[in-house]
Amino acid sequence: MNILHFSAECYPLAKVGGLADVVGALPSYQNSLGISASVIMPYYNTKVVQDLKTKTIFEEVVAIGKNLVSFTIQSVPKKKFGFPIYLVKIDGLTDRENVYGYDDDHLRFIGYQIAALNWIIKEDIKTDLVHVHDHHTGLVPFMMGYCNDFKSLKNIPTVLTIHNAQYQGQFGYDQFDLIPNFNQENVGLLDWYSSINPLAAAVKCVWRVTTVSPSYMEEMTIHANGLEGLLAHEKAKCIGILNGIDWKTWNPETDSLIPKNYDAAKVQTGKKASKKALCGEFKLDIKKPLFVFIGRLVWEKGADLLPDIFRQVLLADKNEGNFLVLGSGNTEIESQLEALSKEFAGTFNNHTGYNEALSHRMYAGADFLLMPSRVEPCGLNQMYSMRYGTIPIVNNIGGLKDTIIDIDEKDGFGIKHEEVSVVAVGNAIFKAQALFNEQDKFKKTRKKIMKIDHSWNHSVKQYIALYKSLIQLKNGQ
Ligand code: ADP
Ligand code: GLC
Repeated sequence: MNILHFSAECYPLAKVGGLADVVGALPSYQNSLGISASVIMPYYNTKVVQDLKTKTIFEEVVAIGKNLVSFTIQSVPKKKFGFPIYLVKIDGLTDRENVYGYDDDHLRFIGYQIAALNWIIKEDIKTDLVHVHDHHTGLVPFMMGYCNDFKSLKNIPTVLTIHNAQYQGQFGYDQFDLIPNFNQENVGLLDWYSSINPLAAAVKCVWRVTTVSPSYMEEMTIHANGLEGLLAHEKAKCIGILNGIDWKTWNPETDSLIPKNYDAAKVQTGKKASKKALCGEFKLDIKKPLFVFIGRLVWEKGADLLPDIFRQVLLADKNEGNFLVLGSGNTEIESQLEALSKEFAGTFNNHTGYNEALSHRMYAGADFLLMPSRVEPCGLNQMYSMRYGTIPIVNNIGGLKDTIIDIDEKDGFGIKHEEVSVVAVGNAIFKAQALFNEQDKFKKTRKKIMKIDHSWNHSVKQYIALYKSLIQLKNGQ
């Protein structure tokens, strides 16, 4: 079975968030079960990509809107990442340094999608099913189903995974020409509230929609940044499949990015050494429980409340905590956190920016991980933190709801709060501080969470069952 994943991100070539981690791991788990899964993504002009020594395997000229552009497909040797990766390089469009954030992002991603489909047809790439991820690849199912140039791909089953419906990639009808020719009767498939909406188009055109956790699937039919009505309408073709994590990359026993390797049996010594190093690096007090936040500093993650949450806890009489933040995003939040690190030097510190190695040291060195997310389709951080024996404190929504059981419940191990407010998160932190003071229970809990298996081994089978059912459907079986 040949599966082709379309994605804007794939770890380690291009990562902004969890999408990269999923697309960088899922195909190799699929391949280990006898599937032939590959990834096609845009080329980026980053050092990681340049160092790959890719090979040009195809060159062509295509029309993107009114312009004829030349593109190449670069292949990354399979042995490098365990599955084939193809990069679509369009000079001036997909050869930039950042994944997102340009005014012409819609044009860049449309160009990539057109070029990729062109390659599949011209080179007759054997594809039994196309799996697209998020809005950047959301026009693929429409193009395969309705654009004249891609008619030959019409009967190939398609799956869309929604990692985050907050972002939909909308653009105006003044850019309509960018979509390759199709019968105008079908224009409604592209439309959502008078814009061209790639995520909505994918939901409408794709054979099946998956979301990255079952709870997020339910939540999306109520709140999905304007798409809730569509998702409620299409519910019959939607299914929630919980993400897993890459068990090999995120393994404290072998992780070369942390100061001391450990497994569940050696969690106390391993974490002590990691915490000591981290507290030394950020001038924090090793005796106090260490709370960390790692992530994009945006509203969905509850990051706007972090400064007030920390201030409340740091000023409380009963404060016994240290806090460390790694993240970037909203510049106002970034500068408030910078100011806080000066005001509370010794108990609060932060690192503004993206730093993969530091994130590993933090998962290993922390006692607790904060995730006060307002929207969390799945969330990988809580699973990474558990693998490293760090207890998660989470808002009870989406994938956080599906992966964490509160310590006060039967078989519980984490801390959950029921709303995102300064008071609710502050109380959850106080509850964690109390747990830290009950050292026996605290130590047992971190041993326990390290043993929970959140690897892809479970969910990968659900994806394969889904693929098989769609291929059978296509074959009329
Ligand atoms: P999202 O994709 O919504 O950002 P996830 O929890 O699925 O959230 O995944 C976030 C991923 O990005 C994790 O691998 C996390 O460790 C990583 N990450 C987020 N921000 C940073 C950062 N500033 N530095 C390093 N890694 C980060
Ligand atoms: C998105 C979501 C996050 C999820 C990730 C991987 O970025 O915000 O919750 O874990 O995709 O699926």
